[in-house]
Amino acid sequence: MNPFKAFVIDQDENRKVVAGMRAMSADQLDAGEVTIRVHYSSINYKDALAATGAGKIIRRFPCVGGIDLCGEVVDSADARFQPGDKVIATSFDIGVAHHGGYAEYARVPAGWVVPLPAGLDLFEAMALGTAGFTAALGIVRMEDNGLAPANGPVVVTGATGGVGALAIDMLAQLGYHVVALTGKEAEADYLEMLGAAEILLRSSIDFDKVRPLEAARWAGAVDNVGGQILHWVLATMKQAGTVASIGNAASFKIDTTVFPLILRGVSLLGVDSGYMGFPTRLRVWERLATDLKPRHLAAITRTIDFDALPGAFDDFIHGRVKGRTVVRIGA
Ligand SMILES: NC(=O)c1ccc[n+]([C@@H]2O[C@H](COP(=O)([O-])OP(=O)(O)OC[C@H]3O[C@@H](n4cnc5c(N)ncnc54)[C@H](OP(=O)(O)O)[C@@H]3O)[C@@H](O)[C@H]2O)c1
Repeated sequence: MNPFKAFVIDQDENRKVVAGMRAMSADQLDAGEVTIRVHYSSINYKDALAATGAGKIIRRFPCVGGIDLCGEVVDSADARFQPGDKVIATSFDIGVAHHGGYAEYARVPAGWVVPLPAGLDLFEAMALGTAGFTAALGIVRMEDNGLAPANGPVVVTGATGGVGALAIDMLAQLGYHVVALTGKEAEADYLEMLGAAEILLRSSIDFDKVRPLEAARWAGAVDNVGGQILHWVLATMKQAGTVASIGNAASFKIDTTVFPLILRGVSLLGVDSGYMGFPTRLRVWERLATDLKPRHLAAITRTIDFDALPGAFDDFIHGRVKGRTVVRIGA
């Protein structure tokens, strides 16, 4: 095991974020009951913000990056996990305040670990990663609030992103009429291939002129972008519609009114994948392995080798990436 390769995010003497490959040893890993030989990790937008310093994501320097990891248990002080078990660990403090998935080995608390569910292999688990987990969690939260295919169409904003693409695929196979809102006209065929029944271009909507209540169109909504677009989503919801607020790709602000909530009974549901308790985490991963398993995971995903990781983040920061990126570490 010693030494092993890790992508470490640190600060220089001017507190500028610097990151690169280093050799690490087992005694440098953080505390935890479960030690894992990492097979795959992935890149989320948050990982790119952390690795480049474009966002203040890292809460403890130095820190091995990578909020997602999966692999095989090599050592466990918790009876729930045995050497050889295939496991997934995402979110919590992983890759931000606890050494993460961009290393050949990781050690994490047992409470952060989920057994790989039957129906998924390790590669698929990371093709989904935090993006897939979050999309699924949003869908589960909307279903728990009464959303069903018969209620009407579901709109997905930020459609070509990791969360958006996976949400479209999952909703379509559940039988929903999915409308994809995108800024990328050239990706209409891709979104239809994933299962979108209709494509709405952002350029077709004047977001400056959205009234508190507009024509009611959506029974459900997965919002990845926030800001004016979330205001538009709320204003166009049908009676008793449910909105899963997932992201802030456009803005962390919303300037809106309570009218959709008090005159149409719309529910605005918050979705936080970070600190979800074990029973819900397990339930969501089991759905990701069964009825929510995307049919087009291969088309949504590209794979890069560990050595290519340092050069991969800029494309995320500049919005040049489509879908999901898996990092092959020790597979
Ligand atoms: N709540 C949670 O636990 C959680 C977990 C994971 C991710 N997130 C957040 O969810 C969001 C989506 O994540 P992701 O991994 O899918 O990100 P991503 O791959 O970067 O995709 C974001 C998409 O949003 C759209 N977009 C980007 N900039 C925009 C702008 N200025 N105005 C309008 N639309 C814009 C683009 O899609 P189109 O061009 O197709 O519109 C883009 O592909 C991010 O904000 C991320 O931080 C939250």
